[in-house]
Amino acid sequence: MHRCLELAARGRGRVGVNPLVGSVLVRKGSVIAEGWHEGFGLAHAERALLERFKGTMEPADVLYVNLEPCCHHGKTLPCIDLILEKGVKHVVYGMQDPAEHAQGKGILTLRAAGVDVRGPVLPELAARLNRGFVSLHTQGRPWVTLKMARTRAGAVSNVDGSPLKITSREQDAWAHEFLRGTHDAIIVGVETVLSDDPQLTRRILNKKIDHDSYHPLRIVLDPNFRIPENAKLVSEFAVGTIVVTAPGNIMQPKCASLRGRGVNVFPVPLDGRLFDFAALWKVLITSSGDFHGVVSALVEGGRRTWDAFRKARVVDEEVLLVGDEY
Ligand SMILES: NC(=O)c1ccc[n+]([C@@H]2O[C@H](COP(=O)([O-])OP(=O)(O)OC[C@H]3O[C@@H](n4cnc5c(N)ncnc54)[C@H](OP(=O)(O)O)[C@@H]3O)[C@@H](O)[C@H]2O)c1
Repeated sequence: MHRCLELAARGRGRVGVNPLVGSVLVRKGSVIAEGWHEGFGLAHAERALLERFKGTMEPADVLYVNLEPCCHHGKTLPCIDLILEKGVKHVVYGMQDPAEHAQGKGILTLRAAGVDVRGPVLPELAARLNRGFVSLHTQGRPWVTLKMARTRAGAVSNVDGSPLKITSREQDAWAHEFLRGTHDAIIVGVETVLSDDPQLTRRILNKKIDHDSYHPLRIVLDPNFRIPENAKLVSEFAVGTIVVTAPGNIMQPKCASLRGRGVNVFPVPLDGRLFDFAALWKVLITSSGDFHGVVSALVEGGRRTWDAFRKARVVDEEVLLVGDEY
């Protein structure tokens, strides 16, 4: 199951609103085939494995998968059909699928067909890996982690609003590798873009992470469309950046210019001065064009943005990095 979870994590940034799923086929204690859900609209993990596996299934072979196999017709055919067709007799799963159309139906159907199904195995780790997918199906919105860095004295920026380097190289490495590496998107308020001009990419101890590795999407909350066209997020790092703005701004020439560079500009209605959170979630969990939705978001600031999320009670977890000034 640990191997399933490792394989599943390879799908991060590629599967959109789908779950992260890995699968292994075990014979006499050894893994003889592997598969994972490689991208939105592509085969599910167990289907990818079974379609790739060219050997003959033996009665004692065990198929492991970190999420209950699906039994519904979606973008792909039900996995349980292929499991039965290929003659798999033993299945071990990590957790039940929380989606309304699933919730144990895959397990029951396999058992009714005579398959020995065991689980859940390591359900806490499985649910932790897929906390975004679970949140989508239980709360109707992405999992939200709020990340804040402050000095021992409590400062989050200089008094004049200019950026203050608070965290150490080690804290940065952890935040880039672990925190940014386990969320679908980073969210910042437009004032942070205006004052810091951040990149919001993953860099470990100042070394760029390989091209293959995962970079979360970058989302700027900008109701008044104040983002400068020369900001790094919409110039150097335009692809993978989303600017959320009030619907009236979509007609501005700046919108066409940003879209022309590959920036996604999404209109979301306001509720007072802030975005209507229900409308914001709807946009963020809906696939459109090359955007397949996000189910987890790391809110990196600044203070007004943290406050808006806290006040709306949409924060699932908070991470506080306390540092000296560097
Ligand atoms: N220490 C840290 O961890 C950390 C992290 C990031 C930033 N910072 C610092 O924080 C400072 C900026 O913070 P800040 O509080 O002034 O600004 P901010 O939070 O970066 O941006 C606030 C602005 O973003 C928009 N916004 C944010 N949430 C929104 C929502 N839910 N709905 C609609 N619009 C939303 C609004 O734009 P409008 O004003 O156009 O309405 C809002 O005024 C900078 O100095 C930066 O260096 C510190």
